[in-house]
Amino acid sequence: VAVAREAAAGAGDLDALRAAMAAFEFCDLKLGARNLVFADGNPAARVMVIGEAPGRDEDIQGKPFVGRAGQLLDRMFAAIGMDRANPDAQRAVYITNVLPWRPPQNRDPKPEEVAMLLPFIERHVDLVAPDVLVLMGNISCGALLGRKGITRLRGNWVQALGRPALPMFHPAYLLRNAHAKREAWHDLLMLQAKLRGDG
Ligand code: URA
Repeated sequence: VAVAREAAAGAGDLDALRAAMAAFEFCDLKLGARNLVFADGNPAARVMVIGEAPGRDEDIQGKPFVGRAGQLLDRMFAAIGMDRANPDAQRAVYITNVLPWRPPQNRDPKPEEVAMLLPFIERHVDLVAPDVLVLMGNISCGALLGRKGITRLRGNWVQALGRPALPMFHPAYLLRNAHAKREAWHDLLMLQAKLRGDG
């Protein structure tokens, strides 16, 4: 963790952070992954989405949230007029994950893996400096809030790394539990209200 902290702290911009992560040799997940999945979207965005880890499609393409869950994520943000490609920071999202490498067979990341890589996501948030964070699912909440229990956390603004953060159900969870889309819609409207300054 100390090595990761030093490597992350030395990165003065996003390109340097990506390079520092690519050069980091202390996490075994890297050995089983095809690509480093750093981020996607507009780094000037007011909203930074933090997911869990790359899946198969993300590992192949080297981009976060491009598989089925990612397509749902894009539809969710489109429903409030936002997308990752938007050049307008007001309407853009920036997307990354707690872990930049795919865990074997998409297993849950181990606590020690999350702990080791935490300095990189912390630095990533500092460099992007978004107005708000969206924490997608339990792994993201566990890493950045130090607590899990997404069913209770979601739909409430909390503080993470000194910024307002909204825990939400992970889109992969929504694919398996369509009834929870109601809550996801509620949370998207909360996000929209916050960005408009009336949330
Ligand atoms: N699930 C995640 O948490 N992140 C991705 O990038 C893809 C699926």
